[in-house]
Amino acid sequence: MNKVIVSLLLTLGITGLAHAAGDAKAGQAKAAVCGACHGPDGNSVAPNFPKLAGQGERYLLKQLNDIKAGNRQVLEMTGLLNNMSDQDLADIAAYFSSQKGSVGAADPKLVARGEALFRGGKLDQGMPACTGCHSPDGSGNAAAGFPHLGGQHAQYVAKQLTDFREGNRTNDGDAQMMRAVAAKLSNKDIEAVSSYIQGLH
Ligand code: HEC
Ligand code: HEC
Repeated sequence: MNKVIVSLLLTLGITGLAHAAGDAKAGQAKAAVCGACHGPDGNSVAPNFPKLAGQGERYLLKQLNDIKAGNRQVLEMTGLLNNMSDQDLADIAAYFSSQKGSVGAADPKLVARGEALFRGGKLDQGMPACTGCHSPDGSGNAAAGFPHLGGQHAQYVAKQLTDFREGNRTNDGDAQMMRAVAAKLSNKDIEAVSSYIQGLH
């Protein structure tokens, strides 16, 4: 089933490339207002603000559209995107995507459990490995819109997994890929896999 979903999204990804040509250079100036939280180059310092540097352009643009439309709630960004055009959002996505993402460190005590979940999933419960969609090095699949995870702040990752599990983040599409995965994760699983991701590169 996952193979079907992946190839479907790949097809959508390839057709999607025809639209939305973002200009990274124009995006840099337009992204000035974002730097206070996400860092001027998209490498945020505070662990509750996601790093955007090196993130897939297609994924970034989808999140920006979702946040603008209210399909994903980000209180800190309320109203911020209202006056931005489709071109502005495409340019900003291109800019952050072109930057180099920084990597943090994993808690050595959590690595074994985090790695087992990331690479092996929970097959007895029907939960696939994260690697299947987010790739073995955590770099995601840019064309399919599967986000880059490696090096992301553990605190942010843990909040997203909890939000997907509790139904507070629901913008993962009709297939509910992330809600289905997160439903199988305990709080301890989330802590371990998030720490592992923070150190992954
Ligand atoms: C006041 C702080 C703040 C500012 C300013 C801000 N953001 Fe955010 N942004 C956040 C927070 C907090 C989140 C994560 C919310 C959550 O936990 O889901 C977020 C999430 C995002 C995401 C989703 C990232 C992901 O990995 O899914 C994108 C994309 C984004 N912001 C882009 C922008 C852009 C572009 C700007 C400037 C136009 C901007 N933000 C300005 C606080 C901010
Ligand atoms: C079947 C494919 C698939 C699998 C398996 C999968 N993911 Fe995802 N994941 C996605 C997609 C697609 C999104 C983006 C949803 C969206 O567009 O908002 C996503 C989003 C995320 C996000 C949010 C990223 C951000 O920047 O906000 C996190 C964190 C995440 N996944 C972690 C995991 C972890 C950890 C696992 C394994 C336990 C996993 N995923 C397994 C497809 C998958």
